[in-house]
Amino acid sequence: MKDIRTRVVGRAFCSTANLGSGFDVFGLALNRYSDTVIARITSRRKIRIAVRGPRSKDLPLEVGKNSAGPPALDLAGKAHLKKGLEIIVEKHVPQGLGLGSSGATAAACTKALDSLLDLRLSNDELVRAASLGEKAVTGTAHADNVAASLLGGFVIAYDDPIKTISLKPPPNLAIVVATPQLPVQSGKTRKARKAIPERIRVKSAVLNLGRASAIAAGFARGDVGLIGTGMEDEIAEPYRQRLIPGYSDVRRLGLDAGAAGVSISGAGPSLVALVDRKSHEPRLVALAMVKAFAQNNVRSTSFVARPAFGASILMEIW
Ligand code: HSE
Repeated sequence: MKDIRTRVVGRAFCSTANLGSGFDVFGLALNRYSDTVIARITSRRKIRIAVRGPRSKDLPLEVGKNSAGPPALDLAGKAHLKKGLEIIVEKHVPQGLGLGSSGATAAACTKALDSLLDLRLSNDELVRAASLGEKAVTGTAHADNVAASLLGGFVIAYDDPIKTISLKPPPNLAIVVATPQLPVQSGKTRKARKAIPERIRVKSAVLNLGRASAIAAGFARGDVGLIGTGMEDEIAEPYRQRLIPGYSDVRRLGLDAGAAGVSISGAGPSLVALVDRKSHEPRLVALAMVKAFAQNNVRSTSFVARPAFGASILMEIW
């Protein structure tokens, strides 16, 4: 270790993953909620996790189960740390709604420890470490949410080992999230992943490849309309939509109200709509989506967000 800090506070925003066709590959950071992680070196040779904050209920404290734990173990190993770590998670991102809650914690922890342990990792290395937290929570080290929370804006997380490409979202992009009030299930993402068949048809893969390419090109060109044309999915949504009452109506009414595209946010149950603020009013899209849920006898809430910047260090104490 070169530079010794005694305590570092990292923060990372929530995110929406997939955007339809970019299953496990696309992530977009949202400026609505963020998690904070306070990390400090301790004299006891073990990692201790504590949680607090408005959304900390039922969060596991075991290193192998909390999404901050595996990244902390990995980074302590990389730093050849001979001491222990205390990780305090201040939880603000709601869990189980499809907003990358576990990813935001893993990203904030990874960012804080990179600084605390003076590791100076590359973006791809940070994302790989943070994705270990997702493996603990969901069973797979999908990197879409953690990449968005760590790097901000729109991120393409691809290949094995993971590589990332960040693209600045268009300034006129608004993100509407509508969340049905369903009982929050424990292990929701793990279950929603199990709903997807192991094999997909070539025709489905081709449709997704084309649409995902349109999304990437849309972000590269700053064209919200083009991004929206790619937000239909053949891999996960056909199997997950049955878990979301009113899905088809919410999608259709969101599009009718002016959304460029609508998809399930991450593993759901929230739906996300991308809106070009120059030509359409995001609040009207939000209202239409909430109304569509209501027509299906489901209460829902909504918010309008903007893309968020990446994980940051709020405080370093030497
Ligand atoms: N890409 C992941 C999924 C995101 O859809 O399962 C989960 O937050």
